[in-house]
Amino acid sequence: MAEVLHPEIRIKPPGPNAQKIIKQDEAHASPSYIKEYPLVVERGQGPWVYDVDGNRYLDFMAGIAVASTGHSHPKVVQAITESAQKFIHICGTDFYYQPFATLCERLASYLPEMGKKRVFLTNSGTEAVEGAIKLARFHTRRPLLLAFQGAFHGRSTGAIALTGSKSKYRAFFGPLMPGIYHAPYSNPFDCPYHRPKKECEMDCNCVEKMQKGFQKVHDPKEVAAIFVEPVQGEGGYIFPAKKFLKDLRSFCDDNGILLVFDEIQSGVGRTGEMFAAGYYGVMPDIILSAKGLGSGMPIGAIIAKESVMTWTRGTHGSTYGGNPVCAAAAIATLEVVDALLPQVRSVGEAMLAKLREIQSRNPIVADVRGSGMMIGVEFRDPKTKKPVPDFMGKLEQVAFQQGLLLLGCGESTIRIAPPLVLTAAEAMVGLEIFEKCIRQLENPN
Ligand SMILES: Cc1ncc(COP(=O)(O)O)c(C=O)c1O
Repeated sequence: MAEVLHPEIRIKPPGPNAQKIIKQDEAHASPSYIKEYPLVVERGQGPWVYDVDGNRYLDFMAGIAVASTGHSHPKVVQAITESAQKFIHICGTDFYYQPFATLCERLASYLPEMGKKRVFLTNSGTEAVEGAIKLARFHTRRPLLLAFQGAFHGRSTGAIALTGSKSKYRAFFGPLMPGIYHAPYSNPFDCPYHRPKKECEMDCNCVEKMQKGFQKVHDPKEVAAIFVEPVQGEGGYIFPAKKFLKDLRSFCDDNGILLVFDEIQSGVGRTGEMFAAGYYGVMPDIILSAKGLGSGMPIGAIIAKESVMTWTRGTHGSTYGGNPVCAAAAIATLEVVDALLPQVRSVGEAMLAKLREIQSRNPIVADVRGSGMMIGVEFRDPKTKKPVPDFMGKLEQVAFQQGLLLLGCGESTIRIAPPLVLTAAEAMVGLEIFEKCIRQLENPN
């Protein structure tokens, strides 16, 4: 059996080379960037990331769930290189080329239960969201939109109006787009209606409650679309009850509303299915994809039922959306991810089992949830049961120093979203460090 790599920290990060780059960046880059910890990357390979001082890290966050095929997957690099050598731009809105047509065909082939679909290619997730807002209004001729507390849909002005995960994403950027109603999201671990987990999972009543509240203010016949993440990403890697998504589907069907799944984080194999719609067995009218779709190349997609994508010639377009190099990267990514799905499911199962063991030994671990390589580990104070955002922040930093790249979400959850090429052996290496870091923070002496 091949020997498994381990993280290797040769120089305490940030080392001297990293410090130089950080200094230059901090002198000139926008102060709005977050920069979670001082990781300065030189190169990556599979789930491994190397910094400019020669340290090696195991990546459990894939650049926020983006490096789906791992860092610089040879097939993706080859597709990018060959495509760039032919031509870099001609504009898919106005002209034709093979990678554009092939990618649209391929994306339209997933989830046959949705029937015939059509695809619009974008440069990012937020643009897919903006486009879907336009499409939903255009198709239905209705003004209102429904979204959820805890949701994250992007950073452009329409998308922040739908977002409900943190007030800082919206504060002082208004007035925001009107006509949006935010409802509580199903969260069996922390039910908005304070019901026990099992009861919530079996018989979630969020949609029933939402309808009652909503109908006091608006007529559902005025609603163009419901935007929902089938698994909330930024909001805390929250897996809702299946009944929640099924009830949303029924509410939409009863009222001529479009159901839009924002799968920008949950799609492209993350849950062990190509899309979380497949994991839950609930079909939307529109799926939004981005992040993992290009393995890091900027590309997104609006995948809609043909009967819904009724906007007409020239009503929507994009200069770069689906440019040949990104489209080639996406085609290669989908081929690699299709083949990886069984591994994503089995390694994900092994990770969940190991994390539940870790939970049993460490009372600060309050919940472990997930599917495939989309796993949330929620931390709570064992006595007060309150979230512990400081602990989560420190855990990110301590893990970084030990060569494990983590990223938080929600109030105090670590999202485990590694490149999908991660092997079971590599996963165990990372989880051992993860537990060591938790213990180190819990028992500093
Ligand atoms: C669910 C979801 N929607 C939309 C977006 C926005 O995508 P982008 O950053 O590519 O604009 C994100 C990004 O984190 C996301 O997780």
